[in-house]
Amino acid sequence: MTTAHDVYFSGLQRALKDAGIAWPVIVLDRARMMRNAARLKAWIAPDKTLRLVEKSLPVPSMLDRLMQATQTSALMVFHEPQLRQTAVRFPHSDLLLGKPMPVAAAAHFYAHLGATTFDPARQLQWLIDTPQRLAQYLDLARELGVRLRINVEIDVGLHRGGCATPSELASMLTTINEHPDQVEFAGLMGYDAFVGKLPAVVESSATSFERANSSYRAFQEAARSVYPELSASVCWNGSGSPTVALHRQNRSPLNDISAGSCLLKGTMFDLPLLRDFEPAVFIASPILKAIEGSRLAGPPWLSTLLFAGRKQRQQTYFTYGGDWRARIESPPHVAENKYFGVSYNQAMFSGPSDERLAVDDFLFLRPHQSEGTLLQMGPLQVFEGSRIVDAWSPFTE
Ligand SMILES: Cc1ncc(COP(=O)(O)O)c(C=O)c1O
Repeated sequence: MTTAHDVYFSGLQRALKDAGIAWPVIVLDRARMMRNAARLKAWIAPDKTLRLVEKSLPVPSMLDRLMQATQTSALMVFHEPQLRQTAVRFPHSDLLLGKPMPVAAAAHFYAHLGATTFDPARQLQWLIDTPQRLAQYLDLARELGVRLRINVEIDVGLHRGGCATPSELASMLTTINEHPDQVEFAGLMGYDAFVGKLPAVVESSATSFERANSSYRAFQEAARSVYPELSASVCWNGSGSPTVALHRQNRSPLNDISAGSCLLKGTMFDLPLLRDFEPAVFIASPILKAIEGSRLAGPPWLSTLLFAGRKQRQQTYFTYGGDWRARIESPPHVAENKYFGVSYNQAMFSGPSDERLAVDDFLFLRPHQSEGTLLQMGPLQVFEGSRIVDAWSPFTE
């Protein structure tokens, strides 16, 4: 038996082998995910809504568990096919788009929504970023004879589009106000992911956070100037995994807090504010070939020059698949051998002899982000206790 993995990854490897899995998969550590969910829930003030970010958790059974654990039905959705699937799978959910959809995608949603009790007129907020898109959505509402709830994207410092100034917002809200049969103002969405990302010499994270919040408040004031009697259910959405810890404070202008990635914690979320959260998804790939030394095509002196005497090049492995957006996690000193070239099909890694993997063992990597990666590798293998207990399919598109 190999000693290359520590106790945790030896346990994952054993569980995969016992389950007969012998191809690259994503393993989800469900207990870790649920502990992360409890940590996140504890940060959300009772008067605020937690909105789970679907693109970072794009697996219906996973969302089911997380919505139960965090007692929320609010989701942020980023993709029209997933929007339709969500409305059918979660007919009681409250959905907010996380990016503006082309009006043709919105039309497609209404034309192809399957049988469901989900009522878009009550449960869905479309995201609008410009007066031009607002005009398109007004036309769509007239054409379909439906009323659309509109959330307006605001720029609180990220500069990824959305309303740039409170007066721009006030002018869009005036248009919304003038068309009550077609549209209803539902709230604002501002994303502050830049907070904490700037080098401290440029701006401290406290200053960035304050700047984003003051900007958010200025947009809220503009909204109140058009709608002096805004209902308490208006959605002031913002945040995301990088800043969710900061919005615990009562000083947050938000009442609707988005987060998703921190629950699975890809490497991009190894942030001081998320230090208590545990990585909960791994790519596991079988070793197809384990070879002594490291050799490249071409004259032997080339491999000698590059690899001789290097501990990390003592063993070569070819994995079942490759080119993942991920960091090697276990065994800890295995590394990619990029000289060989990158391949999605079989990839070359190398490592020291004292961390030796055998054919049919697994290499474990940590995805940089759950977003994207979870859609690409088939059903997630759900690990709990010491076994693979379930397989959860991601959204199909
Ligand atoms: C609008 C918006 N809100 C929130 C998030 C945060 O999502 P997560 O917590 O998964 O990083 C994102 C991520 O891209 C986003 O685009």
